[in-house]
Amino acid sequence: MADTALAAAAEQIERARAEKSKRPTIAGFFDEATNTISYVVHDPATREAAVIDSVLDYEAASGRTSNGSADRIVEYIEQNGLSVTWLIETHAHADHLSAAPYLQDKLGGKLAIGREIIRVQDVFGKIFNAGSDFERDGSQFDRLFDDGDTFAIGELEGIALHVPGHTPADMAFIVGDAAFVGDTIFMPDFGTARTDFPGGDAAQLFRSIRRLLELPRETRIFLCHDYKAPGRDDYAWETTVGQQRDENVHVKDGTTEEEFVAMRTERDSTLAMPKLILPSVQVNIRGGRLPDPEENGVSYIKIPVNAV
Ligand SMILES: [Fe+2]
Repeated sequence: MADTALAAAAEQIERARAEKSKRPTIAGFFDEATNTISYVVHDPATREAAVIDSVLDYEAASGRTSNGSADRIVEYIEQNGLSVTWLIETHAHADHLSAAPYLQDKLGGKLAIGREIIRVQDVFGKIFNAGSDFERDGSQFDRLFDDGDTFAIGELEGIALHVPGHTPADMAFIVGDAAFVGDTIFMPDFGTARTDFPGGDAAQLFRSIRRLLELPRETRIFLCHDYKAPGRDDYAWETTVGQQRDENVHVKDGTTEEEFVAMRTERDSTLAMPKLILPSVQVNIRGGRLPDPEENGVSYIKIPVNAV
């Protein structure tokens, strides 16, 4: 079956490569505490912007949140005279809380995620025994993207691609000639995202990544995380399709699905759970909002014992 969404993405990238005004200006913000990169992507002509994968600072020992990381983004938006159209999540993150509601209050914009968040809400709604007041229909978000859906940031073209595997809901967002690939692929010397969370699937991740690597070789790829790598002591988060096809230690050209699945399964069995998985997931499936306060006005984050 022809992959029309991917073909449309490839055509969009070619149009942006041919004409500078179709290419976004991109600023990456690295959060050292969670190794996450948040992005502000804007259209230089209209100064409309999207914020992708923002971070709310969270201190697990004290249960305190703070806005240092998000305020760096607010400051950048204000200094550059940008107006925010979109607050986009590539998936329900398991390693940090989203600052999207805080940013939406301050800056406006529509909160968006992939349609399959509904499945993630269902799985984790059960794990957290969230109760009937927790809607599992994605209604905490303003827009649910399906594979191939298009969107605009000012005059820039955007297209959403469903790239499951790390979680069922992962999306990649292509804006002009740039691909924001979330937790699929990492820098070529580090490899790929883990697939051992509930709903993860190594074979599916392989197919999603190889699909992204069908895009033009010059496509700029922007990652969601970086952890450095053996022999590299600086953080990095930008690469290209060509570089990934030639060099990615897990999925470069020539790697078979069987080889990838064996490697990924073996490696995942050695990884500890992310420090913030329990607080992150229960907040992020609510669009980054804390659970409703109890009658004393305090929000509580639950820890399921022996359940994950
Ligand atoms: Fe993730």
